[in-house]
Amino acid sequence: MDGFTIWFTGLSGSGKTTLAHMLVDELKDMGRKVELLDGDVIRTNLSKGLGFSKEDRDENIRRVGFVCELLSRNGIIAIAACISPYKDIRDSHRGKIDRFFEVFTKCSIEECIKRDPKGNYKKVLSGEIKNYTGIDDPYEEPSDHEITVETDKESPEESLRKIINKLKELKFLPDCRSHCDKEEEKIIKDRLKSLGYL
Ligand code: ADX
Repeated sequence: MDGFTIWFTGLSGSGKTTLAHMLVDELKDMGRKVELLDGDVIRTNLSKGLGFSKEDRDENIRRVGFVCELLSRNGIIAIAACISPYKDIRDSHRGKIDRFFEVFTKCSIEECIKRDPKGNYKKVLSGEIKNYTGIDDPYEEPSDHEITVETDKESPEESLRKIINKLKELKFLPDCRSHCDKEEEKIIKDRLKSLGYL
């Protein structure tokens, strides 16, 4: 089966990791091979030592994109969940990776601050962390992406459904209706044959 890359982009706390994990489970249930490259995890190994200047963020995203390309071309679904705030480098992945599906987890900064899952925004607002995306560092929204999920308006399940439906619509995943009908038809035919009816 064909591999491809699902690239999540959005502010810290916008739901990238949550949705990426849900997607991993769903795709594994479909029998697919999936690998998740999560920003926080990547920064403890592949990109250890890199900071949050534009140069370091771009280098981080370049590395993650490179791994996604390798995985995708070998039949695996690579899912990247990094803030990836700069549009140019995200778009350059679109040019390099054969099948690239970009998801924008849109969420207001107010809601991200309210969620603050890692307590980072609290530190940003008290001045402990500087150059934080969406506060005093830029985030460039995508424009040619495949789908936007509005995580401050939808439930995680609703966002997940939207992503799966779009993956089917754009033929990244087989649309189960026609695909399963055919498989079902074959099973029934084989059974009828074995019983001597056909
Ligand atoms: S990216 O900009 O290079 O794509 P990445 O997704 O890898 O970022 O890492 C973001 C995570 O690093 C955040 O979720 C947060 O936990 C942590 N972090 C630490 N400092 C910053 C910062 N200045 N801006 C954004 N995230 C930061």
